[in-house]
Amino acid sequence: MASRCVFSLFFTYIALFTSPCFAEDPIVNFEFVVSYITASPLGVPQQVIAVNGHFPGPTINVTTNDHVVVNVRNKLDEDLLMTWAGIQQRKSSWQDGVLGTNCPIPSKWNWTYQFQVKDQIGSFFYFPSLHLQRASGGFGGFIINNRDIIPIPFATPDGDIMILIGDWYTRNHTALRRALNAGKDLGMPNGVLINGKGPYRYNTTLVPDGIEYETIDVHPGKTYRIRVHNVGVSTSLNFRIQNHNLLLAEAEGSYTVQQNYTSIDIHVGQSSSFLVTMDQNASTDYYIVASARFVNESLWQRVTGVAILRYSNSKGKASGLLPDAPNDQFDKTFSMNQARSIRWNVSASGARPNPQGSFRYGSINVTEIYVLKNKPPVTINGKQRRTLNGISFLNPTTPIRLADQFKLKGVYKIDFPDKPITGEPKMETSIINGWIMVSGRRIVEERTTSGMVLLVQQHRIATYKLGSFSTGMARVFPGGWTAILISLDNVGVWNLRTENLDSWYLGQETYIRVVNPEVTNKTEFPMPDNALFCGALSKMQKYVFEPYISNMMYFE
Ligand SMILES: *[C@@H]1O[C@H](CO)[C@@H](O)[C@H](O)[C@H]1NC(C)=O
Ligand SMILES: *[C@@H]1O[C@H](CO)[C@@H](O)[C@H](O)[C@H]1NC(C)=O
Ligand SMILES: *[C@@H]1O[C@H](CO)[C@@H](O)[C@H](O)[C@H]1NC(C)=O
Ligand SMILES: *[C@@H]1O[C@H](CO)[C@@H](O)[C@H](O)[C@H]1NC(C)=O
Ligand SMILES: *[C@@H]1O[C@H](CO)[C@@H](O)[C@H](O)[C@H]1NC(C)=O
Ligand SMILES: *[C@@H]1O[C@H](CO)[C@@H](O)[C@H](O)[C@H]1NC(C)=O
Ligand SMILES: *[C@@H]1O[C@H](CO)[C@@H](O)[C@H](O)[C@H]1NC(C)=O
Ligand SMILES: *[C@@H]1O[C@H](CO)[C@@H](O)[C@H](O)[C@H]1NC(C)=O
Ligand SMILES: *[C@@H]1O[C@H](CO)[C@@H](O)[C@H](O)[C@H]1NC(C)=O
Ligand SMILES: *[C@@H]1O[C@H](CO)[C@@H](O)[C@H](O)[C@H]1NC(C)=O
Repeated sequence: MASRCVFSLFFTYIALFTSPCFAEDPIVNFEFVVSYITASPLGVPQQVIAVNGHFPGPTINVTTNDHVVVNVRNKLDEDLLMTWAGIQQRKSSWQDGVLGTNCPIPSKWNWTYQFQVKDQIGSFFYFPSLHLQRASGGFGGFIINNRDIIPIPFATPDGDIMILIGDWYTRNHTALRRALNAGKDLGMPNGVLINGKGPYRYNTTLVPDGIEYETIDVHPGKTYRIRVHNVGVSTSLNFRIQNHNLLLAEAEGSYTVQQNYTSIDIHVGQSSSFLVTMDQNASTDYYIVASARFVNESLWQRVTGVAILRYSNSKGKASGLLPDAPNDQFDKTFSMNQARSIRWNVSASGARPNPQGSFRYGSINVTEIYVLKNKPPVTINGKQRRTLNGISFLNPTTPIRLADQFKLKGVYKIDFPDKPITGEPKMETSIINGWIMVSGRRIVEERTTSGMVLLVQQHRIATYKLGSFSTGMARVFPGGWTAILISLDNVGVWNLRTENLDSWYLGQETYIRVVNPEVTNKTEFPMPDNALFCGALSKMQKYVFEPYISNMMYFE
């Protein structure tokens, strides 16, 4: 059995055990303790969610085909689920960490995720998926490296830098939740954080004294891979580094055709990697900026993240004005054209047998078309909600996948409309059926060639996460349409959601249920032994947590 031992600051990777299903690939173990800590990223003390005492959490750094085991201990005062954004849980929606598939991990309990990162490479992140918790933190980077035998389409960078950007409120997620529940808008965020830290004091009027900012140390002449993720609530951000070109190399886990950008828009939930060469003279440090997009910048000035790029031979501080953002606040054309300019490099070797999953799109038989339309917030039963096609998703108390496993009826309806409904919007547990017809038979093969097209229209910019299919994520621009072809090649129950946290919290999501009527572990792994039970199945929960004993165990 292959075994790798890499030691890093926060956790240890140990190849542990063999089992038939774990064959030859290494197992990497992580212990995640999720708890509140006090931090003052914008100068105001507040409770943030930390992983192993760190905010943001530690980076998970693994290699394609590794089996990732993460034991998550919930030390929050509410339920928790971790989700792995953009990472395909192949054949195992049991590990996806959303309420449609998993029972939540109750306060003071722990639960161990186990999944293989298969046929994927690139930059992703993890975050807590429930109760708006991501607005208080709990996120961290997730790198999947190529195996040594698979070359990357650029020279090995001299360093690897993780940058998590996101809008930030000084109110915590419970306070933000209260606002949303009361039908209020979250309003303008209080700032933008870069790696959990507030802005460098580039302007003494705008930025108060005493705020800790992020510094990225580099050496002149070297080229770094900088991985940037927007982990925020709902603000699209423009990312740029003063005087430096950003050579885009990867977006959402696919290598791209390499192009230089002076700045790039990164919407909520998106991840990109840039190769940045430190080719400037070190007369001063340089600004790294993430500023709010598509807003009136004179009103949103404070919603700007500023970090420092410091050359090892730097002669002074960064000063003066920040590098300009695109000057087109009410014109989305630039941003749309920029998004369109990003192309996959289909000849670059990806981790997959069919690199980037794109070759066979031409040969996919489209079996269903869904027109998904989202509108501004609506009021349903006196509550402000968000919808897709007029349906605001209501999470069932028993997860959909679990209900299927035990053949429970009435938990959900497979009646998600294929176009917007004409009547009043409603709150329902209504999902999309992803059964597939092949020669008159409904079946899912391991590598099926059937697909579904989603035509999405949006009234504001959003990114959509499409469960665990071959496509990953799609950007949808206001008023515009985006056609998304998804290959229905992964059996399970998969979340289709907007990544904008407030809209998602208010019901803008559904699930696509891909079923193979023949129960076989070739197309879906069996229910994990440690599955939690809740809702109608809560009596089946064998292991009952004993808080006192475990508190002794957990408070190290
Ligand atoms: C899959 O099913 C086969 C036959 O039922 C069994 O031998 C095998 O152990 C199962 N594999 C997994 C990973 O459960
Ligand atoms: C969130 O903020 C409220 C005040 O708005 C405070 O009462 C509450 O304790 C905070 N919650 C957490 C989990 O820190
Ligand atoms: C991730 O791990 C690989 C070894 O597997 C190492 O070469 C690389 O530098 C690590 N990257 C980061 C960002 O820690
Ligand atoms: C909780 O953690 C313990 C070890 O610390 C582990 O043995 C157990 O399997 C975990 N529980 C679950 C449900 O994963
Ligand atoms: C695509 O990847 C291939 C293989 O690594 C590389 O040779 C080529 O230069 C890349 N093309 C572009 C346009 O980036
Ligand atoms: C700082 O920001 C304020 C408010 O926008 C502006 O009036 C002022 O000119 C800025 N100061 C500098 C030194 O740029
Ligand atoms: C990108 O810009 C760098 C200078 O920073 C230049 O050396 C390189 O040739 C450019 N690459 C492309 C593909 O335009
Ligand atoms: C370095 O930058 C400073 C400020 O932009 C400039 O005055 C100086 O000429 C530059 N030196 C070189 C060697 O390029
Ligand atoms: C942006 O806000 C400022 C301050 O309220 C206002 O004066 C200005 O007209 C606004 N700009 C646009 C284009 O709406
Ligand atoms: C697609 O459908 C056509 C017509 O039903 C069928 O002939 C063809 O074999 C299908 N292709 C694939 C790849 O399943």
